[in-house]
Amino acid sequence: MQSTLITPFSQNIASLPFQGRNSTQKIKFRQNAISAVAVSAPARRPPPVTHSMPPEKVEVFKSLEGWAKTSILPFLKPVEQCWQPSDFLPDPTDRTDAFFDEVRSLRARTDELPDDYFVVLVGDMITEDALPTYQTMINTLDGVKDETGASAGPWAVWTRAWTAEENRHGDLLKTYLYLSGRVDMHKIERTVQFLIGAGMDPGTENNPYLGYVYTSFQERATFISHGNTARMAKEGGDQILARICGTIAADEKRHENAYSKIVEKLLELDPNGAMLAIADMMRKKITMPAHLMYDGQDPKLFEHFAAVAQRLGVYTAQDYADILEFLVGRWKLEKIEGGLSSDGREAQDFVCGLAPRIRKLQERADERAKSMKKAGQHCAKFSWVFNKEIALL
Ligand SMILES: [Fe+2]
Ligand SMILES: [Fe+2]
Repeated sequence: MQSTLITPFSQNIASLPFQGRNSTQKIKFRQNAISAVAVSAPARRPPPVTHSMPPEKVEVFKSLEGWAKTSILPFLKPVEQCWQPSDFLPDPTDRTDAFFDEVRSLRARTDELPDDYFVVLVGDMITEDALPTYQTMINTLDGVKDETGASAGPWAVWTRAWTAEENRHGDLLKTYLYLSGRVDMHKIERTVQFLIGAGMDPGTENNPYLGYVYTSFQERATFISHGNTARMAKEGGDQILARICGTIAADEKRHENAYSKIVEKLLELDPNGAMLAIADMMRKKITMPAHLMYDGQDPKLFEHFAAVAQRLGVYTAQDYADILEFLVGRWKLEKIEGGLSSDGREAQDFVCGLAPRIRKLQERADERAKSMKKAGQHCAKFSWVFNKEIALL
């Protein structure tokens, strides 16, 4: 059983009507100066909800196939125009000393970066590397799943090509980390294997309305996170790592635009269904994709990684509220008037008022964290960086 450090959301939002059905949903709750991570305790696990989209709504996605082809597939880049990990790495085919010189200078650059930065970069890389889990998740969604594994439908084409683009992210970060010699690759690889084996349940219930709300949120979260590791690499003097993280962030942004455009379309065609889906995902809280990470050593590994990311400002509770606020604006949720039932209007009020509420809850949690700091755990050992103690708070 996982302990709960600070759970502002679970105490407050969970008590609202339409409580999320999956009690294992958890949220990273972190603030800038003082770190605190909220991880809800999976006390009792109710049976998972499956196939929650009414069967007739499969037709919505069927009817959108032509639109997806012309409006979503163009967000993909042709393979010929895509960067590949080797473009950013020392060229091993170079038989002169240039290869070794490049590796040496990579190692000299990364030697200047602190261990806590590596903890966050490794956590981000591991999150990317659990890509099979995310493709599996999308292929649980009714009406858009890849029925054969090579289906010609535009939803399936998108999912495969999206996966193929994403696959470069973990590859590149992993090779860069390997060459740096700053991290314990065996422990990292073991964490990836545990994580893919564990999977994830973001509470999307085979429902593409919920699934695309989730992916919209997550792509923006990764855009922010990689953008911040880029900024910090630049500040730390590693311009190439900065370019790598920035390039990955740009992919995430493009993916975010595609997924949030799908939700925008659903809001246009079925405002009530889409509004209820957005509210449902937010009530459950957006589960972080790597929340089940484990290295065979630290049962609170995700919590500890999240705390370091919070402390460094790579991904924070503030970001969570910002993403929500951004999407509410992007989807113009406040302005939607027609086509909402009373439940839909209630969902609209909930979602549109949620970001300020999260910020308020966070302020209270900050106060609690201050007192917790006196008695609480300040550091954790990370196997990824050879069991060095890294400050959490
Ligand atoms: Fe990615
Ligand atoms: Fe992504």
